[in-house]
Parts: sequence; structure tokens; C-alpha cells
Amino acid sequence: MPRKRTAVLISGRGSNLQAFIEAARAPDYPAQIALVISNVASAEGLERARRAGIPACVISHKDFESREAFDRAVDAELRAAKIDIICLAGFMRILSDWFVTQWEGRLLNIHPSLLPAYKGTNVHARVLAAGERRSGCTVHFVVPELDSGPVIAQAKVPVLPDDTEETLAARILAEEHRLYPEGLRRVASGEVTFV
Ligand code: GRF
Repeated sequence: MPRKRTAVLISGRGSNLQAFIEAARAPDYPAQIALVISNVASAEGLERARRAGIPACVISHKDFESREAFDRAVDAELRAAKIDIICLAGFMRILSDWFVTQWEGRLLNIHPSLLPAYKGTNVHARVLAAGERRSGCTVHFVVPELDSGPVIAQAKVPVLPDDTEETLAARILAEEHRLYPEGLRRVASGEVTFV
């Protein structure tokens, strides 16, 4: 089966992008990272793409008058590259319902909580304030409602008594780097589908 052409959308560090790049080196991995799009020109992840020889481009949301116009430009780039699957990885823009509907079932996100708990931002602070003993991360299909699509894979980590937002985030990030490539593998291989 041809490997699914996958685009990774980033805004910053790109450590999850790096995890995909490494996972996709395995000959039996069912996806290839075919394109990286960043909405921020200084994103560190662009350098990771360059080092791995992956085509990368910057589409700045600041160059567009509306959210939908930006989304249409991203969509055009994805279609020109014949992309099958999109992974949002630290992409700090909310996509329009139009975009999400276009790519329904082929658009993945990772969120640093055990969804459906702790949707939205500022997750680790809220988890600590609530005295939770467990947290984690979730790979899910994107639907128009934020952080609400069907779950593809989930990993749990303990919350330790002396945790800070930073220590908890780091423990979860290490799991993300394992879980997100696994989630993409499930979708690219057809093991998990949207409906
Ligand atoms: C991750 O923690 C992810 O869960 C969140 O943004 C962070 C992205 O990190 N949505 P990176 O850019 O992949 O290093």
C-alpha cells in the first residue's frame, strides 16, 4: 500500500514533528511526512524539516484578511502537494469549520490532557489546581467543536505531588512523542477510521 502523504502543521518548536520524522524512517511505517506548513516564519520546526529534506513553507495568517482566506491558502497548498492526512502539531491557529469539514476524517490533533477532560488552553495549571492524580495526552480527529472529535489514542501519566506546570508538561510531552506517531500509524494504515 502506498504510504499516506502526510502534512504536519506547526507554529513553533516542532518536537512532535521530529517524532513523526523519526517514526517515518521505518520502512513499514504507513505514512510519509511530505509537507510541513508553519504560520510562523521563525518556527524552530522549519529547521527540523529542512534538516530532514522535507518540503516546508510558511503561510502567515497576518497576510490574510480573514480566517477563512488563510485557511483557503493552506488548503490550496495541501491539495497541490496531494496530501492525504494532516497532523496539527503545536499549530496555534483555530481552523474554520469550512476547513475542518473539507478534511474531516483526515485531520488529526494532539491535546495534552485526557480528553474529554480539560479541553482548551492552560491545561496543566488547571489539572494541578484540581488536584488530579493523573493526566496525559490524546490524539483525536478534529471536528468543528474544539478538542471534541473521536479519540484515536490516549496515554496516561501520573501527576506527582511536587509537579509544576513545567514538569508535568515535560512528562506528557515525552508520551506525546510516542503516542502521536502511533495515532498517525493507526489512521494511515486504516486500522482506525472516522466513522
Ligand atoms: C504540545 O504539547 C502539544 O500537545 C500542544 O503544543 C505542544 C507542541 O509542541 N498542542 P511541539 O511544537 O510539537 O514541540
